[in-house]
Amino acid sequence: MNQLAAWTPTAIPSQAGRNVVVTGGGSGLGFAIADALARHGAHVILAVRDAERGARAADRITASTPEASVEVELLDLSSLASVHEAAQDISVRLPTLDLLINNAGVMWTPLTRTSDGFELQMGTNHLAHFALTGLLMPQLLSTPGSRVVTISSNSHKGGHIVFEDLNSQHGYDRQAAYAQSKLANLLFTYELHRRLTSAGAHTSALAAHPGGASTGLTRNAPTHMRLLNTVLGPLLTHSAERGALPALRAATDPAALGGEYYGPKGPGEMRGDPRRTDSHPRSHDAEAQRRLWTLSEELTGVRYPL
Ligand SMILES: NC(=O)c1ccc[n+]([C@@H]2O[C@H](COP(=O)([O-])OP(=O)(O)OC[C@H]3O[C@@H](n4cnc5c(N)ncnc54)[C@H](OP(=O)(O)O)[C@@H]3O)[C@@H](O)[C@H]2O)c1
Repeated sequence: MNQLAAWTPTAIPSQAGRNVVVTGGGSGLGFAIADALARHGAHVILAVRDAERGARAADRITASTPEASVEVELLDLSSLASVHEAAQDISVRLPTLDLLINNAGVMWTPLTRTSDGFELQMGTNHLAHFALTGLLMPQLLSTPGSRVVTISSNSHKGGHIVFEDLNSQHGYDRQAAYAQSKLANLLFTYELHRRLTSAGAHTSALAAHPGGASTGLTRNAPTHMRLLNTVLGPLLTHSAERGALPALRAATDPAALGGEYYGPKGPGEMRGDPRRTDSHPRSHDAEAQRRLWTLSEELTGVRYPL
């Protein structure tokens, strides 16, 4: 396509015959991503923690696209047992998996522990997605052209991985913990890309971020920031549908390659048309990528066949 032309959902090729899993597909960006993929013919599984909300989301998709093929799978990313159950179920339901979108996330939550004792943001945003992707690897590897797209954030730029205290046992700063988890999303993507390439696999790993999108993510922000957001939000951010475009491009553009990162092209990458971008140099630290991978395998008990 013309490199100067804006990439819009009309550029999404037919997704007919493709199986897709979107974590957090019942609301926010995940819903917008799932809806667009279903509109283009994909069979979409909304992997959600609340079955009723998931069913309502599936109904909304079929209400606007009656021929859409959508299912709901229960997945609570704050529990590794739930991740195992969901992965098992998905691998029974889907013999092949073309696209896994690691989208679900939480931001700036008060100190909370997952069922496995992980800090909630690291546990949900990174460790559970690391485990889910690893458990679905056989389906992904046996599907030529499959992709894993993981959603990061501009916040990753302020992130540092505290290897000695990944799960905030010795102090907690909610904003730093979010930034750390979003940096982890990128370190994971780049290490997965390297391993897939070394293995000669026909699966690619990419990352994307939405810029600033109007969703429920800011629910734990301090009151003054939420008030500021009410005033400045409409000027600085865009809709969930627009925020979904970098992920949709990473997921479907035939020209998008493993190891790439997509985001909006406007000032500060807050809004605008989706384009390939680059992440902070800390996300390209190969030693940190390997170290996080090893630690994530140890913490989740999920070993990749790569
Ligand atoms: N919005 C932005 O401006 C922005 C900016 C940068 C990055 N992001 C990233 O975009 C992704 C989506 O966020 P969003 O903006 O769409 O926020 P959102 O509206 O709050 O949606 C978050 C989604 O994650 C799901 N989720 C949270 N905890 C879960 C768990 N334990 N198990 C399963 N699902 C869980 C939520 O499910 P429920 O519906 O059940 O709550 C919801 O579907 C996140 O990774 C976030 O870091 C967003």
